[in-house]
Amino acid sequence: MRQMVIAIDGPAGAGKSSVAKRVAQALGYRYLDTGALYRALAWKAMQRGLRPQDTRYIIEMTRETRVELQQSNGEQRVLVDGEDVTEAIRVPEVGNLASPISAIPEVREILLDWQREFGRQGGIVAEGRDTGTVVFPHAEVKIFLTASLDERARRRHKELLERGINISFEQVKLDMEARDQRDSTRHVAPLRPAPDAVLINTDHMSLDEVVEEVLRICRARFTNGAPPST
Ligand code: DC
Repeated sequence: MRQMVIAIDGPAGAGKSSVAKRVAQALGYRYLDTGALYRALAWKAMQRGLRPQDTRYIIEMTRETRVELQQSNGEQRVLVDGEDVTEAIRVPEVGNLASPISAIPEVREILLDWQREFGRQGGIVAEGRDTGTVVFPHAEVKIFLTASLDERARRRHKELLERGINISFEQVKLDMEARDQRDSTRHVAPLRPAPDAVLINTDHMSLDEVVEEVLRICRARFTNGAPPST
């Protein structure tokens, strides 16, 4: 049977990465963190001292950048032109720059081809903002994860502190609110649930519960015979 494409979208801090990784592991699928692609470009733009308004240079830079996602032991490593930036792209400054970069239509277009190529054979769990609406509109399973701003900021704050990044809860919340606003109101591929996505509010759910719920939805699709994706 053809392997499915599972698309998990939602705002920052809704738990997409943790859930997508676990679901991919459980199904033996590959994991595609699409946000890492935008972050990788933001990291390189920062190295070059580019600002969000340097659109022309950012587009040029995107054309000549090689981003690779390598899977090893269930972990994803992110390489930019051969350099491992897995940890470097997780700092808040990179996330804040990734958001305006991701609003540049030409940048999205270049990454769109890349993402579709990655998913061509199926057997992937993709997570991001537009994986169910734009990148894989024929994905067999579409999930939209949400949670309240406070809860999402609390989770992201904890994660950053665990990584040794010292930042206040208030700052995380402010950054997140600004990013959500930009990601949801941009012209191209704004953050929104696909009409056929299943919405899951994770406010009062543990990670295990969310993973179980997503797997249940996937199993139901398997059982009912997933339509071929194109
Ligand atoms: O999920 P993340 O925080 O790693 O994503 C970083 C930024 O990339 C986010 O602010 C919006 C953008 N993004 C996007 O526009 N489309 C995606 N499919 C994934 C991320």
